[in-house]
Amino acid sequence: MTDPFQPADPRATDRRFMAAAIALARQGVGRTRPNPSVGAVLVQHTPSGPVVVGAGRTADGGRPHAERQALAQAGAAARGATCYCTLEPCSHFGRTSPCADALIEAGVAAVVVACVDPNPAVAGEGLVRLRNAGISVRQGVRTEEAATTLSGHMSRMVRGRPHVALKLALSADGAIGRRGEGGIAITGPAWGRQTHLLRAAHDAIAVGIGTVLADDPSLTCRLPGMAARSPDRIILDTDARTPTNARLFADRKVPVLIFVALDADPARCEALQAAGAVLLAVPRAGAGLDLAAALGMLSERGIGSVLVEGGAGIAEALAAADLIDEAWLVRAPHLLGGDLVRPFGGDPVAALSENLVIDARDVAGSDFLTHMKRTCSQASSQT
Ligand SMILES: NC(=O)c1ccc[n+]([C@@H]2O[C@H](COP(=O)([O-])OP(=O)(O)OC[C@H]3O[C@@H](n4cnc5c(N)ncnc54)[C@H](OP(=O)(O)O)[C@@H]3O)[C@@H](O)[C@H]2O)c1
Repeated sequence: MTDPFQPADPRATDRRFMAAAIALARQGVGRTRPNPSVGAVLVQHTPSGPVVVGAGRTADGGRPHAERQALAQAGAAARGATCYCTLEPCSHFGRTSPCADALIEAGVAAVVVACVDPNPAVAGEGLVRLRNAGISVRQGVRTEEAATTLSGHMSRMVRGRPHVALKLALSADGAIGRRGEGGIAITGPAWGRQTHLLRAAHDAIAVGIGTVLADDPSLTCRLPGMAARSPDRIILDTDARTPTNARLFADRKVPVLIFVALDADPARCEALQAAGAVLLAVPRAGAGLDLAAALGMLSERGIGSVLVEGGAGIAEALAAADLIDEAWLVRAPHLLGGDLVRPFGGDPVAALSENLVIDARDVAGSDFLTHMKRTCSQASSQT
């Protein structure tokens, strides 16, 4: 099968409609676990120009897939159309038949893909199926952009752990708090709102027990109308010290997962379970728990992305183990002074530069944001 009406500049057209598919995928990030948020746009190329006949993203909870939704919208108009997908259509039987088969049955003429799926159950097989059915396949369009919406899935499939993003709010003197005080507002309301948006775009938020004891945080998404977008809360608490009356337990609808040591006190663990927590046991390692083991367990539970909002202990331990993939470092213009908690000696940008590069600098109200991420080569070399 070939496109009946080739666009004048096929590469520009591919990039244009892949941008639309990526925009759709972005809307689902943080909502589609355990599946990735994928975008799909079906376009009929007609003599008078391209016409979108169907579009969709992976539904909340992971089903139906994006391609299914786009095909359902298009109906008979899918025949002869081009499907722009941010991720290779699946080729394996899960709860439904493969999307590659659905595209073949619908009679699409071409499929354009941003990223090949590293899931061993797919891994290029979706593209092979499409080609074998005579469908024209183009790949590698806006790959890097699409990959930002798929980072959790890619990380789970390639490294067996979630994508880890660290968020730190710092004072001008490089502090995240004062020892023994807890709960100090360092950054302003603009970054506060951004933080809640970031929470909504992740599958889980993680802190250490130090932050629970110092700040007693809720760790929910509290933007108007977005309460249902709160991700799971994760506490790294070696000896099960989380208080059973912690604010975390006020909202029973949002899960609380507490990692403890294999030998943590059983009575404390039972009390936390009774308070509503799910307890997960991992070996002790370093200054607390085996972080790689904990992340592996989260991946097995379908959690693809974790926003770490912990204090110095967790941030430095993750960095030392090279388990941070992205960092949101926000610096307020004022000094804090006093007995300061200063992770990374007050200069996290320098400390994280060993494995991450500065991707963007921005302002949020009166605060200054530095965003860091792994480069593609660093990401692919990670195990
Ligand atoms: N400004 C900000 O962005 C921000 C954010 C959060 C917190 N804070 C501030 O940070 C301070 C708390 O710092 P913190 O370092 O105590 O908090 P934390 O990093 O959230 O918690 C540290 C605790 O996590 C536990 N842990 C479990 N496994 C670990 C591992 N592998 N490596 C290291 N720790 C592990 C340890 O306690 P166990 O061994 O008992 O498990 C450790 O003491 C407070 O002042 C708080 O207000 C600021």
